[in-house]
Amino acid sequence: MNDSKKSSQVSGFYKMPIKKRVEFVKKYANLTNEEEKLFSSCLDLETADRMIENVLGTFELPLGIAVNFKINGKDYLVPMTIEESSVVAAASNAAKIARIQGGFTTECTDPLMIGQMQVVKIDDVAKAAQSIMNHKKELLELANAQDKILVKFGGGAKDLEVRILDSPLGKMIVAHIIVDVRDAMGANAVNTMCEALAPMVEELTGGKVRLKILSNLADKRIVKAKAVFDKEKMGGEKIVDAFIQSYILASIDPYRAATHNKGIMNGIDSVIIATGNDFRAIEAGAHAYASRNGQYTSLSTYYKDKNGNLVGELEIPMAVGIVGGAGNIHPKARLCKKILGIKTAQELAEIVASVGLAQNFAAVFALSTVGIQKGHMSLHAKNIAVMAGASGDLIEKIANQLIKEGNIKLDRAKEIFNEIK
Ligand code: MEV
Repeated sequence: MNDSKKSSQVSGFYKMPIKKRVEFVKKYANLTNEEEKLFSSCLDLETADRMIENVLGTFELPLGIAVNFKINGKDYLVPMTIEESSVVAAASNAAKIARIQGGFTTECTDPLMIGQMQVVKIDDVAKAAQSIMNHKKELLELANAQDKILVKFGGGAKDLEVRILDSPLGKMIVAHIIVDVRDAMGANAVNTMCEALAPMVEELTGGKVRLKILSNLADKRIVKAKAVFDKEKMGGEKIVDAFIQSYILASIDPYRAATHNKGIMNGIDSVIIATGNDFRAIEAGAHAYASRNGQYTSLSTYYKDKNGNLVGELEIPMAVGIVGGAGNIHPKARLCKKILGIKTAQELAEIVASVGLAQNFAAVFALSTVGIQKGHMSLHAKNIAVMAGASGDLIEKIANQLIKEGNIKLDRAKEIFNEIK
């Protein structure tokens, strides 16, 4: 399919049988028959055994597709891997509402990661810090000698910063090397550089370099996503006001902010996992960034535009890669990246942030109107029906009856099953 003709807007995708959904995605993303087969296969044990230690088997999670996403004018079908119900549906619905006003727009910084070198046992920290800065050029050259390929592609060590910190053990220095990691997540490149620089830093400072490791507070690798959510589609300006009242609590109260941000991470982690990226790194960066002004707060902001529509913005560090790591080894991660059709890590970062914003909008929208339990009930009722012994068409029938009665209990499901089987 020609890229410009592709539309990710599909109504009733959730009602299609799995086979039809797979056919749709296969056509959309030009998947081969081999790639199509991956949807129903597991990671092979040999690959798993090369990924981690002491392997016994594999652990499967559902892989779904969020539809309706338009980001910077381009349509995307977004693969999401998650165990929680309602997340994929919520992202798709939010993307549908955002589409009315043009979809998501994003911007992001260069893919700059920070590597830390902690220097202890220094007699004169100010002199030592100056000495590091005086040799910035040589230190950057030495760092770049570690990764000629990265440099060839326009990346590499770009800058050096020195911080002096007070600690219970006395003053210490933390030198930061700033590395453009291009399309990689960057941990390997940055850690290798930090280790290579340590002897020179010790010589320059007369101290001992203890830690040499990247920082997951990737605050120089920031992505911003923005969307306008149509007030009519939301149910009118009163609902927009209710939404903003709900959001405000997350902006002033860490107890609510943690839950609010968890909703954002529902969307973000799902895409991060589907593409074989490191969700712990993203989580660590997100929550540290949410505390950057001294109090943990919401990662997103919402306000009304002059027409009364709701504007949502999300700003978050995004250390994602499309080359190297598990994303290269895991066949399904490679497949998910093909479905996304991404060309750079920045494009992936922009999609991930948009999904995070969509997810957050959907959760707060539900919370400020009908609550979230309604959305959860349909799948929950189906699971209860299966537990009661139902299969095939009976699952839907029993689930519908349970929802109608407002009594989604196993005992009742068993009764209905015995009545109609
Ligand atoms: C549940 O996984 C996520 C929510 O709690 C997020 C929120 O409260 O905003 C619904």
